Amino acid sequence: MPQSAKKPFIDVLSGQRQTIPPVWMMRQAGRYLPEYRDVRAKAGGFLDLCFNPELAAEVTLQPIRRFGFDAAIIFSDILVIPYALGREVRFEVGEGPRLEPLDDPAKVATLAPRADLGKLAPVFEALTIVRGALDLKTALIGFCGAPWTVATYMVAGHGTPDQAPARMMAYRHPEAFAKIIDVLVDSSIEYLLAQLAAGADALQIFDTWAGVLPPAEFARWSTEPTRRIVEGVRARVPDAKIIGFPRGAGALLPGYVEATGVNAVSIDWTAEPAFVRERVQSKVAVQGNLDPLVLITGGSALDRAVDDVLANFAQGRLIFNLGHGIQPETPIAHVEQMIRRVRG
Ligand code: CP3
Repeated sequence: MPQSAKKPFIDVLSGQRQTIPPVWMMRQAGRYLPEYRDVRAKAGGFLDLCFNPELAAEVTLQPIRRFGFDAAIIFSDILVIPYALGREVRFEVGEGPRLEPLDDPAKVATLAPRADLGKLAPVFEALTIVRGALDLKTALIGFCGAPWTVATYMVAGHGTPDQAPARMMAYRHPEAFAKIIDVLVDSSIEYLLAQLAAGADALQIFDTWAGVLPPAEFARWSTEPTRRIVEGVRARVPDAKIIGFPRGAGALLPGYVEATGVNAVSIDWTAEPAFVRERVQSKVAVQGNLDPLVLITGGSALDRAVDDVLANFAQGRLIFNLGHGIQPETPIAHVEQMIRRVRG
């Protein structure tokens, strides 16, 4: 039996519904855990932690030890790709990421054609350490940001509420913007393949900002680049298991699933359940979609919300998750309550 056949998380991605859905959480390694805060304080900066293989492996494993999740996600960030492209990337405490803005065609002309994957060697090393430490039933997820979402940070140089700088650039200078996207597509394919080679069992493509685009722009800048990444990865690893997370895609989810060929789609808490069941879960597995705020709330509101996710999606292929990352102020007891309720 192939090793992956023993992992409920991989079985769902392969088309087999599980009676008890596998469960993990986006951003499960993070500031809500005291053991993460301890390592984080020792490591120096956030990127220093990402690029320290032993410590990155340690924080990846912390939530697995504490909660027994069905999948670990390698501790890194989507902005390591701009870093490997030679862009300046910094994380300021309490302010989020800072990059040198790439906001006009003259700057884009200086962009490196490919990421230097040698700069990401510590991520691959961390994956190999984690793979060696996990038991056979726990899957290991590698990831990258979707080109659109990574480009929003590269263009603006920081996070914004609506990604206006990247949207403006895509309208004003579509050729220059397409060049950024092309470089990110090629780099992401190589990066994801290297993560599979280092020990990842599955991959997730985070398109956190997909939902700010009108449908035609969504097709061009979110769906199509993701389709090319899936195709590029499968050209070398035909059975690669890939989850797409086009946050906020709503009514555009069926088209995204159809065009990209992902094995599963991660949905946020605003998705309409009957629509998702009929138009999405009939084709691929669904991952999600508890509101991270109800996980902060806890109590009977949390129980009801967990039951709703199960009632909405557990009759089909489901990976239980949040609709987006866990918030730092979330009580650990609420995570335990959620897992107990999912596993019955
Ligand atoms: O899920 C996991 O546990 C794996 C690790 C992971 C991180 N970032 C660690 C992180 C993953 C999968 C990401 C993805 C990521 N990074 C996304 C897409 C998913 C999403 O959450 O929307 C985006 C948009 C980023 C970019 C990014 N990284 C921002 C905007 C920030 C600052 C906001 C914040 O939460 O602080 C980060 C920093 C970051 N990435 C932290 C962690 C644990 C917090 C840094 C710290 O510990 O100080």
